[in-house]
Amino acid sequence: MPPESLLAAKILAWYDRHARKLPWRAPPGASPDPYAVWLSEVMLQQTTVAAVGPYFRRFLARWPNVAALAAAPDDEVMREWAGLGYYSRARNLVACARAVAARDGAFPDTEDSLRGLPGVGPYTAAAIAAIAFDRRAVVIDGNVERVVARLYAIETPLPAAKSEIRSRADALTPRRRAGDFAQAMMDLGATICTPKRPACARCPLSDGCAAKEIVPEGYPRRAPKRERPERSGAIFVATRADGAVLVRTRPPRGLLGGMTEFPGSEWSVSFDARSARGAAPLALAWREATGEVAHVFTHFSLRLAVYLADAQADCAAPDGCRWIAADRLHIEALPTLMRKVAALAGVDARRRK
Ligand code: ADE
Ligand code: SF4
Repeated sequence: MPPESLLAAKILAWYDRHARKLPWRAPPGASPDPYAVWLSEVMLQQTTVAAVGPYFRRFLARWPNVAALAAAPDDEVMREWAGLGYYSRARNLVACARAVAARDGAFPDTEDSLRGLPGVGPYTAAAIAAIAFDRRAVVIDGNVERVVARLYAIETPLPAAKSEIRSRADALTPRRRAGDFAQAMMDLGATICTPKRPACARCPLSDGCAAKEIVPEGYPRRAPKRERPERSGAIFVATRADGAVLVRTRPPRGLLGGMTEFPGSEWSVSFDARSARGAAPLALAWREATGEVAHVFTHFSLRLAVYLADAQADCAAPDGCRWIAADRLHIEALPTLMRKVAALAGVDARRRK
């Protein structure tokens, strides 16, 4: 047997015994539901397996098939999504569900045809083709990347190493059970070949692994990364005498597009705290809350000073803003950042369910 097929056979045998039980996986022998595979893969794009579990279950309970999701109002999907982050994924999710529903609910079953769907990039197309349709496709996520970089002790740093990693992963991928193989590599990366403490003694691939004896934690090599710039700003939580709070909807495109937020200043690297009150949406007696809200986005980290004020019951909302009852905040499409703001301000935004 060529060494690649031997490694593939070993990891598949390991998977048969040690596969994680995840809510979107079909039991052994059963065929997976393409809708569940697609939904889980979109949710998992930038989010951990542990965080996705409850969301996946709620979505599947509420919208058990692609036709149901396609018929859902956008804002309800956004609300269920709130907290998963990267909200353009939720918009693409609905667009994709509608595109599939328009083909009588049948997902395309090849990597190429899947790639044309909204929100389905090369990774997701390969994952769905392999996992849902048992097509041979090369599926590379962060876990697979790490395992392959270690197996072959690839010295080129990421991201330049991606093409080498891809050709190695391609050579390893078996003709049959490519979906199980991909998930086996993911599980191995998540449970054995972990970023900080690989358990090489328990690894089914240790015989063929080039990094095992030479500090596997050092792979994949990485080019030194740029610092995340820090932005800051001010945000304003006005509470009306009847318990309503002032919010607005973010523009549809861009960061947190279409989500609900408290009004505030621009977020910038040169934010001047002294001018913060100038960004207030209403002329009220603003007081600064104790503490601030910190949040990390992909391209920058953010610190927000939170200002609070009381408004009279007849206070009108300024242009672009609206008053909503604080005890309805939790059903708004409120991103995690804004949940933190609500918590610091002491207004209601309890988690649903
Ligand atoms: N991460 C992304 N997709 C996954 C899957 N199908 N199994 C485990 N981890 C994953
Ligand atoms: Fe990862 Fe160690 Fe297994 Fe190599 S032997 S693949 S470094 S866990």
